[in-house]
Amino acid sequence: MRYPVIIALDPPRDEDPVLWSIRIIDSLRDTPAGYKIGLPLLVRAGTKGADDIASVMPADAIRVADLKLADIGPVMVLTASAAVEAGYTHVIAHPFIGVEGGLDELVNYLRSAGAELVLLASMSNPGAVRYFDQFIDEFVLMGSRLGAWGYVAPATRPHMIRRVREVLTKTPNPAAKIVSPGIGAQGQRPWAAIKAGADYEIVGRAVTRAEDPAEALEKLYGSPR
Ligand code: XMP
Repeated sequence: MRYPVIIALDPPRDEDPVLWSIRIIDSLRDTPAGYKIGLPLLVRAGTKGADDIASVMPADAIRVADLKLADIGPVMVLTASAAVEAGYTHVIAHPFIGVEGGLDELVNYLRSAGAELVLLASMSNPGAVRYFDQFIDEFVLMGSRLGAWGYVAPATRPHMIRRVREVLTKTPNPAAKIVSPGIGAQGQRPWAAIKAGADYEIVGRAVTRAEDPAEALEKLYGSPR
């Protein structure tokens, strides 16, 4: 079994984003379940660079575009399609824009392109308690109506992951995926999110900034099972 981990590729400012990412993927090979890019990479490397990076990922790796989309539907489709056409299969969007004229159009596009919606249920930063956490039930039910593949819920607040799992039991897809950032650099310990009901933990700097990323991943999670 691989590690239930998605590696966040956020290149440092002084590195070539494509070479940096490929070096990490080469080091980790297929031990993580997937890789995630975000705006820091996409803006610096462009879609051509993002495509080059996706093409060295193992064929069955989950390829997440963490775009945190929050716009009107047609514009989210323009942005999401750039990532999907570059080889990314799962796109993260904000829920608070709502369905009509927003997420409905994004989902229609993703479905037609064979890609998946990942909806933010909450976020890992402390400030998310003030707003996001108040609406977590509604966001999960919204995602269920949209046929979301999964949800982002914070490893930094495991009770929120448990809450997402609990709400999911009331939906037609209780096994929808939960992906959780917040391990390592943001303070949470490995496996904490999985134990709370997540399917994958997102890990960035704790692995990607290490001298030897493969060794760092193994130190965090133990030998692959
Ligand atoms: P680190 O280096 O902190 O990286 O392990 C974490 C990665 O996850 C992203 N991140 C989030 N993405 N919802 C998301 O969709 C969140 O709440 C969240 N918190 C962190 C972050 O951009 C980085 O790539």
